[in-house]
Amino acid sequence: MTPSSIQLDADGRLRHFLTVEGLKRRHLVEILDRAEALSGVAERRMTKSPTLHGKTVVNLFFENSTRTRTTFELAAKRLSADVLNVNISTSSTHKGETLLDTIRNIEAMQVDMFVVRHAVSGAAEFIARHVAPHIAVLNAGDGRHAHPTQAMLDMMTIRRHKGEFANLRVAIVGDVLHSRVARSDIHALNILGTGEVRVVAPKTLLPADVGTLGVHVFHDLEHGLRGVDVVIMLRLQRERMSGALLPSASEYFQQYGLTAERLALAQPDAIVMHPGPINRGVEMDSAVVDGPRSVILEQVTHGIAVRMAVMAIVLGNRHPDITEET
Ligand code: NCD
Repeated sequence: MTPSSIQLDADGRLRHFLTVEGLKRRHLVEILDRAEALSGVAERRMTKSPTLHGKTVVNLFFENSTRTRTTFELAAKRLSADVLNVNISTSSTHKGETLLDTIRNIEAMQVDMFVVRHAVSGAAEFIARHVAPHIAVLNAGDGRHAHPTQAMLDMMTIRRHKGEFANLRVAIVGDVLHSRVARSDIHALNILGTGEVRVVAPKTLLPADVGTLGVHVFHDLEHGLRGVDVVIMLRLQRERMSGALLPSASEYFQQYGLTAERLALAQPDAIVMHPGPINRGVEMDSAVVDGPRSVILEQVTHGIAVRMAVMAIVLGNRHPDITEET
């Protein structure tokens, strides 16, 4: 899929947030800086920001989600927006209404933003191409394609712990093939000038175009972890697998599972990340999930500030009157 051009306005500013691919460093830094500015409201529960007062945000989730949906909802509420959660499993889409009919009906309720999660790659962009011009679309994960706000909360977590990206070695480990998080992280890390981006996976769990992504490929976990500053573990996405890509979960753990012994090959102050949900004992040992290097729950917290930042930036670019920082 080519980078989306429709997410930028004529001045090159974000009007939707569909993918990280194709954005400039300044777009990413703006999101990270804005998220830091909003983190008092996001993380320390300071008084709500009035930034999106009077705006309506619709969460449109066609796929399950816990972290992403709830943090989008909290983010919108902490910016004083009204939030509507459309539960697709009980909605008319299941009675044969097409995606566009569903969108048209919700549009008729005078809303300002759709947050979309869908199992089909390109779904968020499709919606962005068809909504009324005043509505912004944020991609909350489309198929195997992109999960841009997850990438930005991952970047916020890395920047907080490690500072400059240029000096870092980052390893992304596991089911890269099915992971929209891996793709978005790889684009974000490269745009931010990360020293070295590695992917570590068996051949069967790497996409065919991995050679074009600007990463170093490792098939051996212990080689791939050596000397890294950041380890991003991926969930084994068994629901997306067709056919036998893996021998068994326990053999996978033997070869690719992150244990404390293996983590000792990374830098002594390396951090361990995972987008969740975690298969404990499949991609990671529980002792590492709950251990001192794990920043997995911080990632969840950062999701609120990053999603607030993206909402404020996108609607701010559309409405010059939306300028308040906090
Ligand atoms: C990820 C997703 O849904 O893409 N989870 C998330 O958003 N926190 C990763 C996954 O499902 O493994």
